Amino acid sequence: MNKKLECNDNIEIDVQGKPEQNDTNIFRRELLEWYDAHRRVLPWRALLNQTADPYHVWLSEIMLQQTVVAAVIPYFLKFTERWPRVQDLAQADNDEVMSAWAGLGYYARARNLHKCAKIVSEELDGVFHRDQKALKQLPGIGDYTSAAIRAIAFGLPAVVVDGNVERVMARFHAVTEPLPASKGHLKQLTADVAEGQTERPSDFAQAMMDLGATICTPKSPKCALCPLSYGCQAYAQNIAADLPRKLPKKKKPEKFGYIYWVESTCGEILLEKRPDTGLLGGMNGFPTSAWLENSASKAHITILDGVSFAPENINAVVYHSFTHFNLTLEGIKTVVSKSSFCTPDGFYWHKRDDVMNLAFPTLFAKYLRLMK
Ligand code: ADE
Ligand code: SF4
Repeated sequence: MNKKLECNDNIEIDVQGKPEQNDTNIFRRELLEWYDAHRRVLPWRALLNQTADPYHVWLSEIMLQQTVVAAVIPYFLKFTERWPRVQDLAQADNDEVMSAWAGLGYYARARNLHKCAKIVSEELDGVFHRDQKALKQLPGIGDYTSAAIRAIAFGLPAVVVDGNVERVMARFHAVTEPLPASKGHLKQLTADVAEGQTERPSDFAQAMMDLGATICTPKSPKCALCPLSYGCQAYAQNIAADLPRKLPKKKKPEKFGYIYWVESTCGEILLEKRPDTGLLGGMNGFPTSAWLENSASKAHITILDGVSFAPENINAVVYHSFTHFNLTLEGIKTVVSKSSFCTPDGFYWHKRDDVMNLAFPTLFAKYLRLMK
């Protein structure tokens, strides 16, 4: 028998107007006690008994949307050092913001981040909304992020559900219905313990995330160390590692193309400023052909049409995995004379010896590393 269950302070009677020791309260108390002892120290987090800076909370939550904590930390530090307040970020050059984001991926986040900073700075006097509906009107802020900002930045009750929280709740209640169909149910189960609670909403939300990230981990949950093991159904049934179930993922398609190292006779490299919309939008890149699913149908890029170029196959192959497909690009090197080359819209020349000082998304940074 679990020792904690024998404690008489868990009995469901309300003597002397003390809060009821119901299931929800036990869950919250165990979780928060654990958090007080084991919370991760993270640069956007308030110190004990201090309130977090809403700008820091918003910035970190946008960065954390599709990226793990360890990868986010250096970017968060760089951004807050360069732009200490939301007004500073708002006034930055968009190219500078995109460059600072290079390597974090999902570049639409950076575009929306900058848009949002401008709105908050110019229209809201630098003050973020507390209301979830109002927060969700801002670029880049959806269900999850609006709830996270409300709880973590303002200490107001909100139902904050990310992948970590879904995993903890699915296991605690042994929800066997697979994701994503079970999302609504898991959100309701989270709401049952989080909603309406005015006590420590910020810590509660972050405690759930920390528990999911450090104890109730995807592969080998450390149930013996878990503050929720007292009532966890998956633990009791010994099925924790099997939950949450997920519908089998579709296999990612493979795409293929060419990537070019086009050098001018005067020592410059042809680069592209990619269009704002679409994959890697707004970022620097090397010219590439279209990315096609059939490797046999790779076609050279049209900007080289009409240029007498002697493609040199350089045995440089770049492989990169995106969310919805994997990409293999074969490197082609060629030297052209700028006088015989009409630089198309969106492309520009940059000194070869300075190319490594530009910020590139990971796909192109890999190529550059191969070419050095
Ligand atoms: N993942 C997303 N938001 C987080 C936060 N505030 N703390 C830890 N992990 C997170
Ligand atoms: Fe997760 Fe195990 Fe804790 Fe249950 S007891 S919440 S499965 S770590």
